[in-house]
Amino acid sequence: MPKDNVVVGLDIGTTKVVAVVAEVTLQGRLNIIGLGETPSGGLRKGIIVDIENTARAIEKAVEQAERMSGCRISSAFVGLTGPHIGSINNRGVVAVTGEDGEVGPEDVERVLQAARVIPLPADRRIIHVLPRQYIVDGYDGIMDPIGMSGSRLEVETQIVTAAGAAVQNTLKSVQRAGLAIEELVLNPLASAEAVLQQAEKELGTVVVDIGGGTTEIAVISQGCLWFAAVLPIGSEHITSDLAVGLRTPLTQAEAIKKEHGCVLAELVAENEFIEVPAVGGKEKKQVPKKMLAAIIEPRVEEIFTFVRREINGSHFQGLLPGGVVLTGGGALLEGITQLAGEALAMPVRLGWPENSGGLADMVASPAYATAVGLVNYGAGRLAHTQAAASREAIWENFWAKIKNWWRELF
Ligand SMILES: Nc1ncnc2c1ncn2[C@@H]1O[C@H](COP(=O)(O)OP(=O)(O)OP(=O)(O)O)[C@@H](O)[C@H]1O
Ligand SMILES: [Mg+2]
Repeated sequence: MPKDNVVVGLDIGTTKVVAVVAEVTLQGRLNIIGLGETPSGGLRKGIIVDIENTARAIEKAVEQAERMSGCRISSAFVGLTGPHIGSINNRGVVAVTGEDGEVGPEDVERVLQAARVIPLPADRRIIHVLPRQYIVDGYDGIMDPIGMSGSRLEVETQIVTAAGAAVQNTLKSVQRAGLAIEELVLNPLASAEAVLQQAEKELGTVVVDIGGGTTEIAVISQGCLWFAAVLPIGSEHITSDLAVGLRTPLTQAEAIKKEHGCVLAELVAENEFIEVPAVGGKEKKQVPKKMLAAIIEPRVEEIFTFVRREINGSHFQGLLPGGVVLTGGGALLEGITQLAGEALAMPVRLGWPENSGGLADMVASPAYATAVGLVNYGAGRLAHTQAAASREAIWENFWAKIKNWWRELF
């Protein structure tokens, strides 16, 4: 049975599809109760290129998560990524029409609609209109304007857009797997939800999620998203560099990267050697571990050169005292935080999904940052909907009491 305090996050990654099920407690805490994971195979650089294969992988991951959690899953918060992602700032303005010049939920709805009005090519879709602050009659810094008095309501938003075809293919794959989409969520926004502390979100921090086929970037400041970008380069590129450089099959190169890979030659001892199987043959050769670093380092440097370019383009360089939080499976490479610190000239730490309970140990890896972040995001949505419902109930109760009072009076 689907329960109304259960949230599901579905991360359709280039290397793996992950479904995380979490229960939201009355205190608003997240307890992880289920996990399903399966290799994806239908994606390239974050984009779905094979709907059937992707749908099958989603089905498998969801099935596992259902079995573990004992919940039937019918819908999920689904991550979206790809180099087609764009983000822009926009404002909306409306006149307040609520009773007694009080801002009502419909005014907020209308001002957000007004902020959505941007010139967009026909093949692009808006996936988020994220309000950063509301301004009532010129007074700014308002997070929840409902109930405030005023005549003019403005909103400053961050609008995240995506290629229409990529959105459609995600919808099709998820639907074909028999699931409904609660909401599409920008991947690095989800990762930020999972790995950032509140203070980092306020101060200004950039999250860099290095996956298999993509590197996703999100700048978070004053608790909001200010900039997002997705690069079509990830840790799989390091694997293919190793395969070519060591002349070994991709599967071996992947295993060697995970077990012995190190970004910086200076961290490797001179006399360390590893065994590398040759392509097509049974024989193995001895390769100095320093050689791995020599192959890996230029690729990682290239990734951070692109990341630096994006941060500079966001006009947030020098305004991110929270530094960089590296996450995603690719962030597990030894020495990568040190190299990132040097390449970006910023403090860097590794980001793990935090702040959840239950079976949280199962998702305690940077590779699960997006999936856990999706349930964090979903829990936030749930709280919002419940708050709106209880606000409505309070008003209904209030009017019912007034009616009764009149009836008793006459
Ligand atoms: N211990 C490790 N050391 C080095 N690399 C690792 C390690 N564990 C995982 N990786 C790499 O991380 C990558 C997968 O990361 P992740 O699971 O975050 O990707 P994804 O979400 O499937 O892909 P994307 O986000 O690009 O769509 C793989 O290329 C894998 O080789
Ligand atoms: Mg990912």
